[in-house]
Amino acid sequence: MRRILIAGNWKMNGSIKSIQYLLIDIMSGMDAVKQADVAVCAPFVYLNLVANMLQDSGIAWGAQNLSEQSAGAFTGEVSADMLKDFSCKYVIIGHSERRSLYGETDALVAEKFATARAAGLTPILCIGELLAEREAGETEAVVGRQLDAVTQRNGVAALADAVIAYEPVWAIGTGKTASPAQAQEVHAFIRQRIAAQDAGVAGKVQILYGGSMKPDNAKELLAMPDVDGGLIGGASLKAVDFLGICTAAPA
Ligand code: 13P
Repeated sequence: MRRILIAGNWKMNGSIKSIQYLLIDIMSGMDAVKQADVAVCAPFVYLNLVANMLQDSGIAWGAQNLSEQSAGAFTGEVSADMLKDFSCKYVIIGHSERRSLYGETDALVAEKFATARAAGLTPILCIGELLAEREAGETEAVVGRQLDAVTQRNGVAALADAVIAYEPVWAIGTGKTASPAQAQEVHAFIRQRIAAQDAGVAGKVQILYGGSMKPDNAKELLAMPDVDGGLIGGASLKAVDFLGICTAAPA
């Protein structure tokens, strides 16, 4: 049985003060969260603060990106070992904002996935189609291509202890959520594509949905058989909303 995972992606938001308040409020609501594992992915500079605050909380933490390089003259980059130094469990890889705004290719994303796994980090691999691609009937082709780049580089077994996040780009930050049926359709496609190579891995890998998930739509999305959690942007910045999603996980 796959556990539900609710992970917050704070993106480039927060300050020392706002993060302290947010985490205090989330921690104070965790008693009500029975059915889900919970994580937050913070900007690099706040990982030390987050690690100190969450160390005995049962909430895991991670980063939103990493370098594919291990060390050296790569000004401005952050390595997998550095993330391990701050006890990160997760790292988001290939978020659509990194693909579209920072030119990350499928090949680079596959390298970053390899680097994360080699360091013992759990990658949260983001894949998803643009609105124009959906409208052109290309959703499966795009998602399949993004997934295949990672399995060809890393082997399908590398997905067994990884997390995939299906994030339709048209649903990110727009208030337009995929319907539960739309999400389920793509999640099932992703799982089948993995199952064609290894049924055991397909049964194990957690596939999260991301894109305008909120307390009022989380329950229906999380009830879908192939939706194993959520990657939450905007709603992860408000404790009441984030906890509302965490407690929406089915029993
Ligand atoms: P929103 O929840 O703000 O739509 O963002 C989703 C996302 O990009 C999470 O990685």
